[in-house]
Amino acid sequence: MRTKLLLLLFTLHLFAVSVVRADEGMWIPLLLKKYTIEDMQKKGFKLTAEDIYSVNHASLKDAVMIFGGGCTAELISDNGLLITNHHCGYSSIQQHSSIEHDYLTNGFAAYKLNEELPNPGLTVTFLERMEDVTDLVLKNVSDNMTEKERETLINQEIDKLIKANNKGGKFKVTVKPFFFGNQYFMFIQKVYKDVRLVLAPPSAIGKFGGDTDNWMWPRHTGDFSMFRIYANKNNEPAEYNDNNIPFKPKKSLKISLKGIKPGDFTFVFGYPGRTQEYITSYAVKMVSEVENPAQINLRQKRIDIMSNYMNQSDVVRIQYSAKYARVSNYWKKWIGENRGLKRLNAIEKKQQLEKAFQAWAEKNTQHPEYAKLLPEYKKLYEAITPINLSLDYIYEAGLAVEIVRFARNFQSLLTATDNEMEQTKSHLLKSIDGFFKDYYQPIDKEIFATVLRKYYKEAPKEYLPDIFTEVNNKYKGDFNKWADYVYKKSIFVNKEKLKEFVNNYTPKKANKLQNDPAFRIFNSIAATYEYKIMPISVKYRNQLDSMNRIWMKALMEFQPEKNFYPDANFTLRVAYGKVQGSFPRDGIKYVPQTFLSGVIEKDNPDIYDYRVPKKLKELYQTKNYGRWGEKGKMPVCFLATNHTTGGNSGSPVLDAYGNLIGVNFDRSWESTMSDIMFDPDQCRNITLDIRYALFIVDKYFGATNLIDEMNFVN
Ligand code: ARG
Ligand code: GLU
Repeated sequence: MRTKLLLLLFTLHLFAVSVVRADEGMWIPLLLKKYTIEDMQKKGFKLTAEDIYSVNHASLKDAVMIFGGGCTAELISDNGLLITNHHCGYSSIQQHSSIEHDYLTNGFAAYKLNEELPNPGLTVTFLERMEDVTDLVLKNVSDNMTEKERETLINQEIDKLIKANNKGGKFKVTVKPFFFGNQYFMFIQKVYKDVRLVLAPPSAIGKFGGDTDNWMWPRHTGDFSMFRIYANKNNEPAEYNDNNIPFKPKKSLKISLKGIKPGDFTFVFGYPGRTQEYITSYAVKMVSEVENPAQINLRQKRIDIMSNYMNQSDVVRIQYSAKYARVSNYWKKWIGENRGLKRLNAIEKKQQLEKAFQAWAEKNTQHPEYAKLLPEYKKLYEAITPINLSLDYIYEAGLAVEIVRFARNFQSLLTATDNEMEQTKSHLLKSIDGFFKDYYQPIDKEIFATVLRKYYKEAPKEYLPDIFTEVNNKYKGDFNKWADYVYKKSIFVNKEKLKEFVNNYTPKKANKLQNDPAFRIFNSIAATYEYKIMPISVKYRNQLDSMNRIWMKALMEFQPEKNFYPDANFTLRVAYGKVQGSFPRDGIKYVPQTFLSGVIEKDNPDIYDYRVPKKLKELYQTKNYGRWGEKGKMPVCFLATNHTTGGNSGSPVLDAYGNLIGVNFDRSWESTMSDIMFDPDQCRNITLDIRYALFIVDKYFGATNLIDEMNFVN
């Protein structure tokens, strides 16, 4: 009796804590009315669900786009002007940069439309509407078919939906699973392809603090850039063309100059990429105890090697700055994530939930399959862990070697038909220039010896590429000797030889490619992947997909009063919260706002990340902030409690009236476990105050032409 009572109390307690807590959640705009809007309004939101998402009239969703392949952007004028992050526009800015026009260093501003710079390949994607298509997509599936049969039937229905809705190619139609395939939504999108660079601050502003400050608070990064969407005469998407004109949006955002204070309601409207909030303790254990440590460790080695050479030469520093940023971004994120999970006792919390779930499931006679789930998960994760770890080593060690990764592209020579050969060659020749522009062999060679040694020593033995046996026999496991050989013999370290090889390539020379030491390493890894890992991994994947689907459904039945939100899947979502600091560690408080004075405090000509441009210092000294400052100070960034993740970069941060107050660009380091478990005490998104961006546009660049396009509320 007593234990029963205890158990009951325990379960009740679990119910209480498992109801979604304040500020957690990434909500589907179409369903706000049903689940979320009341709570939003209770917390200060002044508009309606229809103002955020509507298909009947212009709504905020018409001002929010996918930018490129992985960021968000929003419209800030009725002439197609958009704002996103500097780090989202980075590759476009870099593409236009040369020694004569070093836009990365000096920034760029177009003062007239005809100065704006086209970016072939860059797109923005609007959401026209979304629709719940669960019943249609799942209409032919049943519980007792295999995952493969299920997938086939689902894809058939999805294909039908795409054909029925894409209006002969006018729309891009995608259908995505939610809640592990318990629900499906269709997205009707419009893709604009003429997107021109309008303004980018110098990196010393847009990337101020660099990787030192990345994921950190206090933050002083002016992480924004501006682009303009162009359309044809009918305001429809068109490839780049001189005759295209600025796109006239259904809706653009009004910009608030009122400023922010702690407690203010905010929401973020954008495209979060991926979260896994509902995984079991077994999965959290795998990620935090096996995968993250291995990946952190491998990247740590690359970072150490790169920074060593970058510190010795400015040329190398520039060559490797983008690569370094890419490698260090998730290295740092995983470190933060692991600390956060530990601090939250995430595994124990999940185990508690699972214990209560199990007790509930065992009494559930209607669904005997529920009680089998957790023991099956336990077994499955034991089996999956070495597979996943092996995949991590492929990506983070094997393909971390630049010449191995580059060699992979040259497979196309082996597979090209006679007709395709010329194009294949010209494609490769172009990529050779790009590759060597930012290639420094001593870095690559040292990374080669270091990470491949770790791969061999630490990765699961049963999935090691065969090439390692050879190294063992030929070089007695001496990875430096192996590196000496590879970097002496491979054509992939020599730009001229490689070009010559491609130019003169005929299928008769396939041997030379196939015997190249770098290409052989790639081949051996690819074979491991294809023949050793994939067959097993696909089997487990299918098993996992089916279990996850049942698990999610069961969880919802187990916690009927909980308001579930689906994991992020790079679809449009609303997260809401308030402006607020935090207490990240004992004795430390994060105040939620930073100012230009903090930029000046960090100024240090000896540290690359902290060199403040002269002009910015002058503006600070003369307090020349115009209408953008506040009580003689210039706000830069602020913290809020919105639940965000990668992909939310560039997302609009809006106030209670739907006016733009900032651009989302990061989270604090203590927040990064929110992709797995959200903690309302710690999780904070970092926003660039829109006024700082406008101050740079106006006072740093004098681009009043852009300011004049915007609509303000005071
Ligand atoms: N941490 C931010 C986001 O995940 C910004 C990354 C870009 N900046 C950088 N210094 N690497 O992606
Ligand atoms: N910087 C991230 C991005 O590029 C957003 C930060 C986060 O992960 O929250 O999407």
